[in-house]
Amino acid sequence: MRPLYYEDGVLKLIDQTKLPANTVWHELKSYEQVAKAIKDMIVRGAPAIGVSAAYGIVIGVNGIVTDDKDVFFKELNNIADVMKNTRPTAVNLFWAVDRIVEKAYQNKDKSIDEIKKEVLREAQIMDQEDVENNRKIGEFGNSLIKPKDTILTHCNAGSLATCGYGTALSVIRAAHEAGKEINVFANETRPYLQGARLTAYELMQDGIPVTLICDNMAGYFMHKGEINCCIVGADRIASNGDTANKIGTYTIAVLAMENNIPFYVAAPVSTIDFGIATGDEIIIEERNHKEVTHIREIQLAPEGVNVKNPAFDVTPNHYITAIITEMGILYPPFSESIKSLKESL
Ligand code: MRU
Repeated sequence: MRPLYYEDGVLKLIDQTKLPANTVWHELKSYEQVAKAIKDMIVRGAPAIGVSAAYGIVIGVNGIVTDDKDVFFKELNNIADVMKNTRPTAVNLFWAVDRIVEKAYQNKDKSIDEIKKEVLREAQIMDQEDVENNRKIGEFGNSLIKPKDTILTHCNAGSLATCGYGTALSVIRAAHEAGKEINVFANETRPYLQGARLTAYELMQDGIPVTLICDNMAGYFMHKGEINCCIVGADRIASNGDTANKIGTYTIAVLAMENNIPFYVAAPVSTIDFGIATGDEIIIEERNHKEVTHIREIQLAPEGVNVKNPAFDVTPNHYITAIITEMGILYPPFSESIKSLKESL
């Protein structure tokens, strides 16, 4: 299962706002449409947003008609800014946009047509690397899973959040493929319901046993001894291991420590923001209040009620047992393990 395909100047995105009830594909032919799709969460999940933005730039630069390199690079930078202004928290978006722009500059002495081809090639490499990295995350993470474990996950860090196979769900997939007879508990993940709508759907499609629970039930099942470990994805990991992920992740991490349950983060190295020291520097996206007061078009809350809707929270590093990346498993103290990882790049 993949949420995105690029073909002949068109980015095809499965509409994740409509899953699982309806499978609707959008065909995007302008970079503005791609930016809007990221903003509206038609595509979501840190790695999927990054690669979609990269293809958005490909589509954008294809539309630049000029022989003047200064004009070309000025327009490229404008397109990159539009992409970066979609969602603030997942660093993969900024990482992907910067990587594409840098590729263009590295090839600035070539013809504009050739620069456009290099930009496309780079987006395709990122797309392919994402799936390869996810497979490696799965292999490393599988070593932490015992036969018959029940694993709690939050939000959707699966195929739908990446270019395929997932991050947190890659560990789950790898353990399942290894015949470990695991079970998954999926938090529904209010307000956007990525757990109920996307994680439950994709695990069922793969025949992986999944039980859906409301977010506020996680502590109950941990206390009863029914959860063996937690695995979540990440949107941005600071140099000290503090991790931004879907709102509610922090609550699970605290509950996991209280109940002596390992809490794992699974993410590619592109999710680590080496430029920030701690999670305090991470910008948390505030989304439309209607996501809280309504479920789809049905209003649940009284008209005019005050609402807050932060889309992410930051889990302090001391709640995290390990961070699983495609380059290996990082253990505390994360400031040191992340520093060594950076030096090895
Ligand atoms: O708001 P979303 O759905 O984009 O948030 C997604 C998450 O928080 C995921 O856990 C994270 O991006 C990792 S996806 C592999």
